[in-house]
Amino acid sequence: MIFLTYISIFLFLCLFVIVLPAFFILALESLVRGHDLSTSRLVTRALVKMIQKYKPNAKIFYDSGCARGALSVRIKKSLPHLEIYAIDNSAVRIFFAKFKSKILRHKINFQKQDVLKTDFRNADVVYTYLWYDIMLILEKKLQKELKQGAIVITNTSHFQDWQPIEKVVTYTKILKTPNFETLFIYVKK
Ligand SMILES: C[S@@+](CC[C@H](N)C(=O)[O-])C[C@H]1O[C@@H](n2cnc3c(N)ncnc32)[C@H](O)[C@@H]1O
Repeated sequence: MIFLTYISIFLFLCLFVIVLPAFFILALESLVRGHDLSTSRLVTRALVKMIQKYKPNAKIFYDSGCARGALSVRIKKSLPHLEIYAIDNSAVRIFFAKFKSKILRHKINFQKQDVLKTDFRNADVVYTYLWYDIMLILEKKLQKELKQGAIVITNTSHFQDWQPIEKVVTYTKILKTPNFETLFIYVKK
């Protein structure tokens, strides 16, 4: 009985000292900097298939704008041979991503950085689920920087000048946001 009381007190303290403040900080971060919507599981499965189809020998994967790292973790579980670099310019999101991956022992390189300052020269696959406003600048940067044959997969927002080699429409019924969770696959020529 005493043991159960201690456990209850411990869980109660965890809730107030860790879970609620974390929830509050992340909610505040989303209000200030915009949401960090994660790629859905359905789209993650499509993404894995596209990597296997177009870049089966890929070694280095970038999640550019990784938020708290949920997508990176799922990619690492599906394709454990990939070395994953997960970049986000939010210190809070990277802190939570690193914290979780330390506890769960995920081998992912989380970095607090702006994707526009990231060096993508060694990338085999670059994935983005970013706002439209950054896409044109990123497109130009990747055009200059990526090695030939590297693939870029964008979710929802897409490039203006590159022609996708495939477009994977995942949610056909949600039509409010154009291209919602549609994957665009590009190859760097
Ligand atoms: C919609 S979330 C996508 C998360 C993850 N890639 C996924 O698909 O589950 C976009 C993330 O990109 C980050 N982001 C936006 N602009 C960025 C930039 N210039 N450099 C780095 N990260 C950026 C945001 O902080 C946000 O966490």
